[in-house]
Amino acid sequence: MGTFKAPRGTADILPAEQPYWDFVRRQGEAICRRYGYRRIDTPVFEEAGLFVRSIGQDTDIVEKEMYLFQDRGGKEMALKPEGTASVCRAYLEHGMASLPQPVRLYYLTPLFRYERPQAGRLRQHHQLGFEALGEMDPALDAEIIDLAWQFYFSLGLRGLAIKLNSLGCRQCRPAYRQALVAYFAARLESLCADCRSRFSRNPLRLLDCKNPACQTVGDGAPRSTDHLCPECGQHFESLLRYLALWERPCQLDHRLVRGLDYYTRTVFEVQPPEEGGQSTIGGGGRYDDLMVELGGRPTPGVGFATGLERIVRNLQRQGVSVPSASPGPRVYICYLDEAREEAMRLLGELRRQGVEAVAAVGSRSLKAQLRHADAQGASHAIIVGGEELQSGTLTVRDMGSGQQRPVPRGQVEAWLRGQGRGTGNGG
Ligand code: HAM
Repeated sequence: MGTFKAPRGTADILPAEQPYWDFVRRQGEAICRRYGYRRIDTPVFEEAGLFVRSIGQDTDIVEKEMYLFQDRGGKEMALKPEGTASVCRAYLEHGMASLPQPVRLYYLTPLFRYERPQAGRLRQHHQLGFEALGEMDPALDAEIIDLAWQFYFSLGLRGLAIKLNSLGCRQCRPAYRQALVAYFAARLESLCADCRSRFSRNPLRLLDCKNPACQTVGDGAPRSTDHLCPECGQHFESLLRYLALWERPCQLDHRLVRGLDYYTRTVFEVQPPEEGGQSTIGGGGRYDDLMVELGGRPTPGVGFATGLERIVRNLQRQGVSVPSASPGPRVYICYLDEAREEAMRLLGELRRQGVEAVAAVGSRSLKAQLRHADAQGASHAIIVGGEELQSGTLTVRDMGSGQQRPVPRGQVEAWLRGQGRGTGNGG
């Protein structure tokens, strides 16, 4: 162990884990493209004000979790704690309102939150997120939920539950908020200290407190879906009809409010089977007022994001085996000293032809080189010695079966591609 360790709450993603990450990213990108979403990348840091305005002053993220710093020009910056605000900022900055609407975008990005680290909760995590901007239609809310569902399904994850709620809009939320305040005011003494301090500022957040006593009180609280204005009610009804049409069953959960303040109407979360509330694998919803908050014209939006660390955790827990990213042969070239130059020539050729190949380095015996090839997970070893130099053939060893055969020098690449698929014993 050296002097330094990775910062608390961060994780190195080592080569052995990379097949999971590759798989999740590949599936995610393929499914997003299938639904018409195009990739966007935004900077890893932004002006801090962007997040204060969008996520909300009274949220955990803004109150205590943002990584804030002053740059050398004295500007207050933040490492990105979530992706939606940046995507909306980019939509406004690049005049995407003039594109055909809705604009469908997805992203893969690291994010930073100074949280108390625990299993599945990190200070740097990664999200796949997708956003549909510029349209109010509930068909898009359903599309986002369907896309999330399809993504998890394509990964092989099973038993996930989708929790759904509608939080109303500017018109109907104030009356709901008042009903909540009245309800909780009469029960303050049963609530935890956090909830009591939040009660007047952000009564909706009391509904998703993890404290069991607060949850019991929350269960009896007024429901937002009973307070929706006619437009929000209709929007929610249509969403439910689309979801039924696509056979995407959701559980209505009147305590679901989400931890970011920008949501209007639809909110939803995806829960894995084994764990409780802290383990939410993905969440999203509609945010029709966010663009105005960021200085733009009224522009509706709806989106979702899912944590890649939590997905990988659930894949491993459910025993899902992931395909290797490179199913072709993985070649290891062994050689005797007199054939070193020929071995290096062959190595260069194979690599240029697109074959994954390494050669022995240093000065190991042939036997030790073969052991090394095995330890490195090679599918094939190619042996180059004096005999091979003379005959113009190479000895190719299948590392799985241990069988060796001569292959003419000029045909080795084609032979490997034809015969050698997927027989590697590693990765
Ligand atoms: P969020 O619920 O804060 O939503 O995060 C989305 C997902 O990111 C979570 O469900 C979880 O899987 C993962 N996640 C969040 N924080 C952590 C953490 N500290 N460690 C590990 N994983 C974490 C958003 O960020 C919204 N921007 C989602 C959205 C997109 N809403 C509309 N569009």
